[in-house]
Amino acid sequence: MAEVEKRGERTLVPTEWTYAPAPESTEIVRLRDAYGLYVGGEWLEPSESYTTLSPSTEEALAEIGQAGPEEVDAAVTAARDAFANGWSALPGSERAKYLYRIARILQERAREFAVLESMNGGKPIKESRDVDLPLAAAHFFYYAGWADKLEYAFPNRRPRPIGVAGQIIPWNFPLLMLSWKIAPALAAGNTVVLKPAETTPLTALLFADVLRQAELPPGVVNIVTGDGRTGAALVKHPGVDKIAFTGSTDVGKAIQRELAGTGTKLTLELGGKAANIIFDDAALDQAVEGIVNGIYFNQGHVCCAGSRLFVQESIYEQTISKLKRRMATLRVGDPLDKNTDVGAINSRMQLERIQELVESGKDEGADIYQPPCRLPEKGYWFVPTVFTNVAQSYRIAQEEIFGPVLSVLTFRTPEEAVEKANNTPYGLSAGIWTEKGSRILWMAQQLRAGVVWANTFNRFDPTSPFGGYKESGFGREGGLHGLEPYLTFDSSEPWGG
Ligand code: NAI
Ligand code: MG
Repeated sequence: MAEVEKRGERTLVPTEWTYAPAPESTEIVRLRDAYGLYVGGEWLEPSESYTTLSPSTEEALAEIGQAGPEEVDAAVTAARDAFANGWSALPGSERAKYLYRIARILQERAREFAVLESMNGGKPIKESRDVDLPLAAAHFFYYAGWADKLEYAFPNRRPRPIGVAGQIIPWNFPLLMLSWKIAPALAAGNTVVLKPAETTPLTALLFADVLRQAELPPGVVNIVTGDGRTGAALVKHPGVDKIAFTGSTDVGKAIQRELAGTGTKLTLELGGKAANIIFDDAALDQAVEGIVNGIYFNQGHVCCAGSRLFVQESIYEQTISKLKRRMATLRVGDPLDKNTDVGAINSRMQLERIQELVESGKDEGADIYQPPCRLPEKGYWFVPTVFTNVAQSYRIAQEEIFGPVLSVLTFRTPEEAVEKANNTPYGLSAGIWTEKGSRILWMAQQLRAGVVWANTFNRFDPTSPFGGYKESGFGREGGLHGLEPYLTFDSSEPWGG
């Protein structure tokens, strides 16, 4: 029994609030030993393969295909055939039925997907269960609703599908990024070749099972696994009409160079270094929750993470002490434990990148704080970290760390906050915490960021467009805006003829 302390005359309370393990069972997941490539509604045996791991245990989970150019070509051909042979001519109301079906199946199989997502990617089960899965299903529901209303969404512009969409996604929200990509593409009448990230292919491969269950016509969605070489082969393929990419800025730039002058449509959703700005009139306890959610959610593997905290000088000490106290309560460990707040780092490579940047922060002279925390012996882990005494020029204030590491800076006036917040090559998101509505509106106008949250952070909704400025990329995903990159319009009659 837990040690108890007597309070007053009667009440017994534990002296220490520890948590008993609360593991989610993995029994619902049926892993295969090896997975093929999902092409034309069939499983194609890959010529090469690699092993996918659990980042929290380093155990092998399955063998995954490493698709080469010929296999990518087979997938693009299957997508092209499906586009020409029925899918693009299907009435929108029929396409919508498939999307609704997929959405419902995702809801029905949510637990299976959530457990698999946490096994393969390392994110806490409470996040894959309460964020990734509900949002993934919501995206399919939302775009199902547009499929038969494109003429109303874009009046007098005669929207038509483009053709084959090549979609390359990262490892931080594997199934959710799949949904962001596939749902609008299909709603608009395109067919798809999707390449999941090499470290997190399993939920995309399970999704192929959903497509079969939904009886989606073969070839409408094809899934080719593999690393950057597979992605590059997809980008180079002349049969692809549109590329949608989410990932690092470097790869995004390479793709843009590759496609320059080819006429292939492109949208890029790249990195970020978001400012989370706390004014002295903000509700501070809520703001501290927002800071924690902003940077420690999903181990900080979030392109819109609030990785630069700007605190107004007058409340600096108070904010930092509240933040440190809150950080000490974060539970780091087994992603499948329902009490875990911060799970495993997605890969050894990402862990090394985080470590390298954290070292640079120490070397450049910032002060580091990490709460006491016992990490599991196996697997990839990083303790939630905050750097204070950070100068704007430090690498930890400039570069995307993509890990649970926060850099704190200060400001005195709203003008100074804006100037510092915008002092970055990125421009994906920002947060503002203040009681003044007028200040929120003024700040939102000044900040060069695609998404600005006010008195909240990391909120997502399928109806709301998401995307960046500057080196964070271009094009929007979500909402009505998210359909546009998957459509072509009658440019001869731009004003409706
Ligand atoms: P990455 O950009 O290399 O990987 C993202 C996707 O692109 C993966 O599916 C990958 O296989 C594919 N890919 C890689 N090289 C390619 C190429 N030449 N052509 C086509 N596709 C290619 O990102 P990586 O290496 O996993 O992470 C490095 C850093 O990038 C992270 O530390 C983080 O800062 C940033 N990043 C940002 C993301 C975001 O959501 N904005 C997502 C993932 C990474
Ligand atoms: Mg890379």
